[in-house]
Amino acid sequence: MDAAELKGKFAEVFGYEEGIRIFFAPGRVNFIGEHTDYNGGYVLPAALTFGTWSVVNQREDGVYRFCSTNIETKIECNVSELIYKKEDDWANYPKGVLSELIQLAGPENSKQYQGADILYHGNIPNGAGLSSSASIELVTGLALSKLAGFDIPMIELVKLAQRAENHFVGVNCGIMDQFAVGMGKEGQAMALKCDTLEFRYIPVEIKGYKLVITNTNKKRELADSKYNVRRNECEQGLEMIKTVFPHIQSLGDVSYEEWEKVRHVLTDQVISRRVEHVIMENERVITAMRVLEGNDLHEFGALMIRSHESLRDLYEVTGVELDSLFEEASKVDGCIGTCMTGAGFGGCTVSLVKEEAVDTFKEIVAEKYTEKTGLVPTFYICEIGDGAKEKLKEEKSCRF
Ligand code: GLA
Repeated sequence: MDAAELKGKFAEVFGYEEGIRIFFAPGRVNFIGEHTDYNGGYVLPAALTFGTWSVVNQREDGVYRFCSTNIETKIECNVSELIYKKEDDWANYPKGVLSELIQLAGPENSKQYQGADILYHGNIPNGAGLSSSASIELVTGLALSKLAGFDIPMIELVKLAQRAENHFVGVNCGIMDQFAVGMGKEGQAMALKCDTLEFRYIPVEIKGYKLVITNTNKKRELADSKYNVRRNECEQGLEMIKTVFPHIQSLGDVSYEEWEKVRHVLTDQVISRRVEHVIMENERVITAMRVLEGNDLHEFGALMIRSHESLRDLYEVTGVELDSLFEEASKVDGCIGTCMTGAGFGGCTVSLVKEEAVDTFKEIVAEKYTEKTGLVPTFYICEIGDGAKEKLKEEKSCRF
């Protein structure tokens, strides 16, 4: 679909197309640094070129109508009754964002949120761990705030989107996804410290290689509850570490040397493994930033492999599907790095593959993966794109 077709769809659904604006927010991939964000550690994600488009227009009767070209639900709600409803499904994300926008505006200014018609269209595979929810959140935050006449800095929208997910939707995620989706830049990864939000862009120069995302296509069940269990285990680990180092605020601040001095107090082996993953993963991200800046792709790939092994053996968030993809991918000649990306428990891997080996990679990995799991994987060659933005009239780039 291109912009004209999207407008046509909007007209079909809402019966008019005058005055509409189009916004876009991408999905994201994380190269290394999993389960470090809610521990105040480092991550290294990038925005993708696929994402969510929203076609929007202002209303003045306080009604927000949310529709999607992907799912047959049409949700309508009044600005004064923004409450979570299970049956509203995906529309709880935009409702949560709107509710946060209104709180941010305060009693005086919130009157500017007067209603809107919104049509969403997305091409991020659902449940693949590529942040389709953060993408909906950011595209909504940007579109609705602009329609209401506000110019909210992107970093504020990022934080607001995380609050919406934590408080309204009830998923206890960290800041990585919203940050990557909001702040992404074409061709660049973001090295982010998740507690201070200090960050820098690092160019991803992988001439001769491709970034291949492989979807396990496994239905993710219980992912949220296991995610919360891991968070809780990390919190317990931190408390134990604080008995020796009271100044430590988060696991992301524990160096390897400190870990060596303190590991004996973590007598619970499960908690000790979780904490070890976070601390070592954090060290790996710090090294990965350096080697990516120095363009040492082989070392970068080796770090991805160690990251997956740690997520498998210490953090235990992979499972047979992700592990099968990982094992098969690592055996392919020309694949110099591969690891799961996102929360785990299903979802996707990301691999660094020599351009001329990509076809063989897909063939071999698909065959062996299906043999092992009975599932058929999907491959995407990933391009690193920009973060959330308005699509201007002259751009023709929303073809997908
Ligand atoms: C999900 C969460 C993120 C992060 C990752 C794991 O994607 O939304 O905040 O915790 O899992 O690294």
